[in-house]
Amino acid sequence: MLSTKMQDALNAHINAELWSAYLYLSMSLDASAKGYKGIANWYAIQFKEEQDHAQLFIDYVLARGGRIALSPIAEVPTEWESPLAMFRDTLAHEQKVTALIDGLCRIADEEKDFATANKLVWFVNEQVEEEENVRDILDQLNMVEGSKMGLYMIDKELGGRVYAAPAAE
Ligand code: FEO
Repeated sequence: MLSTKMQDALNAHINAELWSAYLYLSMSLDASAKGYKGIANWYAIQFKEEQDHAQLFIDYVLARGGRIALSPIAEVPTEWESPLAMFRDTLAHEQKVTALIDGLCRIADEEKDFATANKLVWFVNEQVEEEENVRDILDQLNMVEGSKMGLYMIDKELGGRVYAAPAAE
């Protein structure tokens, strides 16, 4: 059984994952409005992945006989000055999510909740991948800064991203 402290922390985290989904949908819409079809595609997939993350936590809490209490999702920004600014915000956001996952690990440890600690390993690894992917794109954007052709090429490449459901944990 989940302790109240662990359950509350997981519930708060479900909200954080849904907020991430909302943020990336907003980025996708902004990119789309500005003609960056590839970047819009990349963020639309990111939107789906964040919903997957929330669902994985929901499934886990339910599997442990816990309760989910959905709370309001806070407002997100709607516009970014450039793709570079968008990806900078994305990296900063993913670093925050990593810190949140680390916080959950600390609570699982304090509560001697080994099942939750074990479940969180997948998310710890996922965050390494999330940050690396965004950092790679950010590096590319920094390399071509000021070049419209460079930006066009990156947008085209990001248009090739395909959604894949989360791999087995
Ligand atoms: Fe759910 Fe992008 O971390």
